Amino acid sequence: MGIIERPRRLRSTAKLRAMVRDTSISPSSLILPIFIREGLTNPKPISGMPGVLQHTKDSFKSEIDRAMRAGIGGVMIFGIPEERDVMGSQALNPSGVLSTAIREARNIAGDDLVIAADLCLDEFTSHGHCGVLDTQGSIDNDATLKIYGEMSKILAQSGAHMVGTSGMMDGQVGVVRSALDSAGFTDVLILAYAAKFASAFYGPFREAVESQLEGNRNTYQQDPGNIKESMREVRLDVAEGADIIMVKPGIAYLDILYATTQAVDVPTASYIVSGEMAMLEAAAAQGLIDRERAILEVLSSVRRAGASVICTYWAIEAAELVRKNFA
Ligand code: PBG
Repeated sequence: MGIIERPRRLRSTAKLRAMVRDTSISPSSLILPIFIREGLTNPKPISGMPGVLQHTKDSFKSEIDRAMRAGIGGVMIFGIPEERDVMGSQALNPSGVLSTAIREARNIAGDDLVIAADLCLDEFTSHGHCGVLDTQGSIDNDATLKIYGEMSKILAQSGAHMVGTSGMMDGQVGVVRSALDSAGFTDVLILAYAAKFASAFYGPFREAVESQLEGNRNTYQQDPGNIKESMREVRLDVAEGADIIMVKPGIAYLDILYATTQAVDVPTASYIVSGEMAMLEAAAAQGLIDRERAILEVLSSVRRAGASVICTYWAIEAAELVRKNFA
């Protein structure tokens, strides 16, 4: 037939396919988001996210233990307080739900997990926004930054290795970096949610944190139509001292992740968000797709697009799957 190149030769056995596979997923690159709810007595499931719970103090501790035993890279802690107010003041409570959870996690895991904490106000404000409001009811960017700066010190003091700046306020990385540095926390990392989009895929998360949000986040999170704007956000966050740059959501924004990874010299991260998980789980539950293969395929796609780090609710299970399938 005169065919010189036969790409199929490289696919002829499983060993060959594994040998030439470019993309691998390592358990240590996975971060598990964990929700802990103040005052909860029984762990509470979240609709659409099988296996994901609002944790009690006790079940939180077992989850940290499980994460450690699974050999994943880290956890990202979200705290849900009992009391909320317009200023989100529980975010600054050193014995509040988030700080307490960080201390517990660090006590259990030490340096055997990277303990990351969400640095945002939306779980703590009565209006559900990621910042505080001015007298007009609009987001007050700069007043919010002052609170983020204070909050970063409290999270670091509690033992967080890393803070995730997820509020999409202008200047947040710079303010948090200098707040941390001035308090002596020069080694605490900033995982910067640089390009975070106003996305419908955060749906199930709203239940997970009992979000009070009315309206939307369109004045701070990015418009899904833009890539140039992402590159600007990424440039600013790197300049302000971000250690890791996150693009979020994951599956729907692989182009942004790819472009970001090409553009920066810090590691990049992807967050496969609640609605993306729910979509896959719902299809699998209906028997429409093979669940485990689909999970590995999605994780491979974000790695291929360049993510060093993946935040995923499947982290613990994926660590197992990876060991089974990519041995
Ligand atoms: C904000 C925050 C959100 C998520 C992570 N951090 C919600 C939002 O921006 O509305 C969503 C994560 C997910 O959907 O899995 N602190």
